[in-house]
Formats: sequence, C-alpha cells, structure tokens
Amino acid sequence: MASGLRKNLTSYGDKGFSLFLRTAFIKAMGFSDDALDRPIIGITNTYSDFNPCHGNVPDMIEAVKRGVMLAGGLPMAFPTISIHEAFSHPTSMFLRNLMALDTEEMIRAQPMDAVVVIGGCDKTLPAQMMAAASVNLPTIVLPTGPMLVGHHRGEVLGACTDCRRLWGKHRAGEIDADEIAAISGRLAPSKGTCMVMGTASTVASMVEALGMCLPGGGTCPAAHSERLRIAEASGTTAVRLAAENVRPSDILTPAALRNAFTVLQAIGGSTNALIHFTAVAGRLGIPVDLEEFDAIGRDVPVLVDLKPSGEHYMEHLHHAGGIPALMRELAPLLDTSCRTVGGVTLAEVIAKAEEVPGQEVIRPRSRPLMTGGGLAVLRGNLAPSGALIKAAAASERLLRHEGRAVVFETVGEMVEHIDDEDLDIVPEDIIVMRNAGPIGAPGMPEAGYIPIPRKLARQGVKDMVRISDARMSGTAFGTIVLHLTPESAAGGPLGLVRTGDRIRLDVPARRLDLLVDEEELAARRAAWVPPAPPEGAERGYLRLYREQVLQADQGCDFRFCLPNSQG
Ligand code: FES
Repeated sequence: MASGLRKNLTSYGDKGFSLFLRTAFIKAMGFSDDALDRPIIGITNTYSDFNPCHGNVPDMIEAVKRGVMLAGGLPMAFPTISIHEAFSHPTSMFLRNLMALDTEEMIRAQPMDAVVVIGGCDKTLPAQMMAAASVNLPTIVLPTGPMLVGHHRGEVLGACTDCRRLWGKHRAGEIDADEIAAISGRLAPSKGTCMVMGTASTVASMVEALGMCLPGGGTCPAAHSERLRIAEASGTTAVRLAAENVRPSDILTPAALRNAFTVLQAIGGSTNALIHFTAVAGRLGIPVDLEEFDAIGRDVPVLVDLKPSGEHYMEHLHHAGGIPALMRELAPLLDTSCRTVGGVTLAEVIAKAEEVPGQEVIRPRSRPLMTGGGLAVLRGNLAPSGALIKAAAASERLLRHEGRAVVFETVGEMVEHIDDEDLDIVPEDIIVMRNAGPIGAPGMPEAGYIPIPRKLARQGVKDMVRISDARMSGTAFGTIVLHLTPESAAGGPLGLVRTGDRIRLDVPARRLDLLVDEEELAARRAAWVPPAPPEGAERGYLRLYREQVLQADQGCDFRFCLPNSQG
C-alpha cells in the first residue's frame, strides 16, 4: 500500500506525473528528498482569531512537530474549520457536522500516514472523532486543555457555570453594570476550554477514557508546560501508530465506548456528550442503546466533585490524578483490557495513576457525591424516543413533580416574553419550549437552560422544571429535561402541548408524561401543522442540514454519513 507522499495522489491519469508534480510543488517549501521520504503525520490546525479555546494551538503544533521529527516522521500541519461556542451563528451544533465533513475530507484528500487532531471547544473534538472514525486512518486526539480558574472579589470563577449564575444575579438586579463588566474580564482568564465539567471537559475526559489520547490529555490545563510535553509525545506516538497501522476502529470498540459512558456518568458530565458519542459510534456502525446508557447511570456513582454539580475545577481534577485516578476507582465497572493509542491497555494506564494523598476532588466509591444517575434517560408519551435529564444538576425536590404547562412556541418567543410582568406563571408550573430541536431551530441550540422568569427570580425562585427539545450547555444546572425526541418540528408530541395541560415528571421512574387523554391528543395531532422553514432553507448548507440531520437519539449526524448509508 502506498505511504507518505505517494498516498492519495491527485488524479491526472498518470501516477508518475502526479507524484512528480506533487514533489516539485512541495519542494517550494524547502523540503529535502530525505524529509519527503519519511512517514507523513498530518496535524489539524484549528487555530482561529475567533477561538480563544484554541489559542494555544500554534504552540501545540510546534510541540507535535518536534515529537514527530524526534521519531523520524515528517509533520505537516493543515487547516480545518474552527468552531467556538460564542462565535457560531445560529449554533455551534449546526456547524459540527460541517467540521466533521471538512476534517474527514481533508484527511482523505492529502497524503498522510497518521493524523494528530487538535481540538477542544465543545463541538470540535466530537467533529474530529466522527471524521477519524469514518476515515479510519491511524489517529491520535490532542485536546487543547482547560483554562485556569478566574478570581473576583475573593471568589473563584469558572466559565461558564459562573457566567450564567452571575448573569442571573445581574438580571435580578443584584450585580450592577460596572461589576458585570469587571467580571467579563475575569471569567475566562487564560486560553483553553471552559474549566468546569461542561461539554468540552466532558468530551476530553471521555476521549481519554476511550484511549484516543494520552494519559493527562483530557485534563491538563492549556497553559501548563505539561500540555506541550503531551503534545510532543502525541507527535511521537502518531509515528508509531502509523508504523503499526493502529486505527480508530481498533480503539473505538463497543467496550471502549461503554467505558467512556461509565466515565461520563462518574464525572457528572454534560448531556451533550451522549449526542456526540452516539454520533461517533454511529460512524463505526455501533448502536448506542439508551436503556443500556441509563442502566450505566443507575450503577455508576458520581465521583468527581466539579462545577456545575460540585465544587472544584478541571485543574483540580488534573492535580488529583485526573482520569487515570478516576478510572482506578471505577476499575471494577470498566473493561480494562481495552487498548489505547499509547500502546498499552487501560489496566496499564490505571496502574500508573498518581496517588494524591488527601485530595477531595475524586471521591472513593465508598463515599460518592451521588449514588447513581448523573444522567437519566426518560420515556413517556412526551418523549417516545427518549429525553435526557442531568439529575446531578437538578433540584432533589423537583425530580418527582406534576405541574401546569406554560408553553413557548419558539426560543424567540421565550426570550421575548419570559420576563413579562404579566406572564401567568407560578413556581410550581412547568415551562415548555418547542421548535428548538435539530431541525426546528435549526441546530438544536443550547437554549434548554430557560431562565427563571424575572418576577419569580425576584421572589427568590432558583429552579423550576423546564422541558424542551433543545440542548443545554454542559455548564448549566437546574431541573431541565432536554432532547425530547422526536422533536416538535418533526411531528413529536411536544408540539401538541397547550398551556394549562398537566405534565408529570418522575425521574426515579424514568417517566415524562403529558396528562391529556389519547382521544384529545389524536385530535390535536390531526390539526398539527409543521412550522414554516427558516429563511434561506431552500439552498446551501442549511438545506443539506435540514434534509439530512438525524434526531438526538441518533447523534444528530447526517444520514448520508452513516456507514452504508442510502440517505
Ligand atoms: Fe469553548 Fe466553553 S466556549 S469550551
């Protein structure tokens, strides 16, 4: 099989000429024949001035290159799309599949024997893993790493759990304009990803549990010199992966995915991770069974004490021994025979985990933060194909609750009217928002963290049951039911709820039900009209997205990206 520069030749109808032309052009960069004869290690460059979560990528690329050259390879960095949460209209989720397509096709198009994918901000590692799974070229993942914590008036701050909490205080009139401006300069004090157990930290931790990055890669802060040593070692490792032809399909097995979901529950991780890893697994034809996922949740205790469910931040998890130390606690629940890109089994990674005396960030299984159910899958007549709640971040008293529905038709309507002084709402009501799913919004925005109506917030109401087909930032908290599937814009029963209906949430029983009789629901279903498509839906990527995106229980991937797709 062809390797190095001879791989993936441009089609000119003459292979010799294709290689000659390629060699001639690349020599314009000053490469020698010796360099060009080495195994080529591609490195994705996702640096962007719009993406501070990837602000350390240039330094990481230099370190990866050093590692590749120390092992006798030729490193070649190349650009792919970069996505930052706060700079992605309408949502970063809308762009995740575009990044997966871009990354997949650029890895396929260019000659490389292995690839180091560098990502971090929420959707980037999932997109890169989806691409890697589809191409199935030897791949190592290199997360950018979390930010350091911020400080304000003696308080430790974390993006973005404290962004929401402090903005809520500002909305309630407790923090004035000057102070909120000062806070905006302190919430994200360094390059790197959000340092609470949000989506980025969750995904990076799961990538490490999967064995797709080196130990420490999921937790080491972006600003630490150790991060650069991990980058250097990732470059060296990539050369070995190329030589041994170790592919993602050798690492991303059903057992490894189960390990990753076990870690997801133990870290009290982001609800988004279920969607992303369902998509990654789907690229390899591995189905994710929601009931099995829920069963893992019932068995696996929450052991990691991090915001938003707990107290600490990612740098503290790293100093406490990180994911290897967590996996040592979880070892009886893991398949430790799984391989890792480091060339050792998970058992060998765990055997080298650091013991940190007195640390309180990773709890022993005998003293968990929660005994189980960090994330729970709900079913019922409101969610025939499932819904998700982060029980670890919910109010205990609301986990069993019945209330009157107060319905918002869209995210826009909710934003416009949630703070109306004459909004007919009481703390026991259940706020319902629809048309916020993969097709409806489009892009399934992180709008599920519906704010408490201002008039109730002023009365001291901190939490209410909130239900939608949207997603939620992994950094948010509250009794929030998400990912109702099928979504309302696809004809799901969420579209049939009316203000005044009764809804019952029963997390221990894993149920979410609309208490309206079947005859009435059938009449509403017959009268239901799908929402009008958004502006621009007749062409381009928006059209492709709306035609191809799958529902949350299938990872919101594109139908035509699944293996053997007929889509
Ligand atoms: Fe990039 Fe939070 S905004 S990880």
